Amino acid sequence: MLFKRIKPLDQIMATAQKKALTRQLGPIQLTMMGVGAIIGTGIFVLTAEAGQKAGPGMMIAFIIAAVVCGLAALAYAELASMIPVAGSAYTYTYGVLGEGMAWVVGWALVLEYAIAAGAVSVGWSGYMNGLLNHAGVGLPRFLQSGPMNGGAFNLLAFLVALTITVLLLVGTSKSAKVNAALVAIKIIALTAFIFVTIPAVKDTNFEPFLPNGWGSPMGGIGVLGAAASIFFAYIGFDAVSTAAEETKNPNRNIPIGLIGSLAICTVYYLLVSYGAVGSIGSQPMMGPNGVAFQPGTPAMAAACQGSQALVCSKEALAHVMRVLGFQSMGNWIGIAAALALPSVVLMMIYGQTRIFFTMSRDGLLPARLSNIHPRFHTPHILTMITGAFVSLFAALFPVGILADITNSGTLFAFMMVSVGVMILRVTQPERPRPFRTPLVWIVCPLAVLGCLLLFLNLSAFTITAFFVWAAIGLIVYFSYGYRKSHLANGTEPG
Ligand code: ALA
Repeated sequence: MLFKRIKPLDQIMATAQKKALTRQLGPIQLTMMGVGAIIGTGIFVLTAEAGQKAGPGMMIAFIIAAVVCGLAALAYAELASMIPVAGSAYTYTYGVLGEGMAWVVGWALVLEYAIAAGAVSVGWSGYMNGLLNHAGVGLPRFLQSGPMNGGAFNLLAFLVALTITVLLLVGTSKSAKVNAALVAIKIIALTAFIFVTIPAVKDTNFEPFLPNGWGSPMGGIGVLGAAASIFFAYIGFDAVSTAAEETKNPNRNIPIGLIGSLAICTVYYLLVSYGAVGSIGSQPMMGPNGVAFQPGTPAMAAACQGSQALVCSKEALAHVMRVLGFQSMGNWIGIAAALALPSVVLMMIYGQTRIFFTMSRDGLLPARLSNIHPRFHTPHILTMITGAFVSLFAALFPVGILADITNSGTLFAFMMVSVGVMILRVTQPERPRPFRTPLVWIVCPLAVLGCLLLFLNLSAFTITAFFVWAAIGLIVYFSYGYRKSHLANGTEPG
């Protein structure tokens, strides 16, 4: 039943063609767009989490996650260029595997966007709290993190998500100039970090290299567990593929943008993690039984009390600088993160409202939700609901748990996209493809396997949360969308 009700691709495209965009983006702009969307909480904050899971072996985790993302990116680009409409993986799945699966993917994308927005908000608060603490004007401890992390309510994470929601409500959108400036800030901060840390690298900091081994399925630890978490650092490259419609010569420029931005970020991430690990070490905090603590748990928070270890820091890169004696550099890195991360939150909340909007336009969510505000011209109800949830999640949960849950939804969506590419190659071989995935019968199966490998190496808690969320989604679908669907009822708005 989940595989019925396939929405014809031509019908999907008809929506897009009503509003054709000018093809103006070239390879450099696309690459910058990708870099802007990718670099965020992952490298600035989750480096500590990756260290706790893999020790110095986190460098391998960065490579594994990059390869999986590269494969998925190639698949993503084919569908994005073939079906360049809003809704990304949700819409592609509607056209290939049918409404039921599309709903499941759309529901999983809530994890990719809304929960990610929460994760980045928490990441931002780590840096902001660090700056305030160092300036001697820190908030009380219980307002600096959520209940699982030794606090009660993460006030700054809550406030940043709320502020961004208000900005989106009144119609603020991404501006190319602001994006370029923020990309520059992030690149300068990471470059400075590399130049300061690499000369301080000591061989002894790499021993033992794999203190937690490779990891085991559902263990959420070891190199593969770290790769499953640090995957978060690469999310965002889909921004490039969604610009297919606005790209000059997409067949050449989209893969350059995708692979180029992923390659630049991978090189930066490897150098940053090498510098962080090599300069101050990244050995995990071990429990009394010799097993590393799971990050984001009260036990880990207790073990980290008063510790200077990298794996305990909530502002990893600034922390490394401070431990090395570069106080003001640490503050500058903190300021760079504090300036740049909110734009990632903005993109994520915006992406979430667009996906809900598409789902409600298809009749799978109540039409009322996508009402447009008469003055601000924004989907205000969706934005407020999304913002309220994001702010609460950000206030209550640790960054690592939110990032892992984000990854579960994203990995699932990427798997579906890769499967979709293969199905369409067989069922609709003649349909024009502005970008074709190279070596599709190798790349797509490897993308599916890679996503599955990372998914299975998330923690049992995360995997359970994913399936509980999917089950809730199915209940919602069968009690609402299944009956109200415009496609099923022939009530598609013209
Ligand atoms: N890749 C983005 C980040 O790390 C989501 O913040």
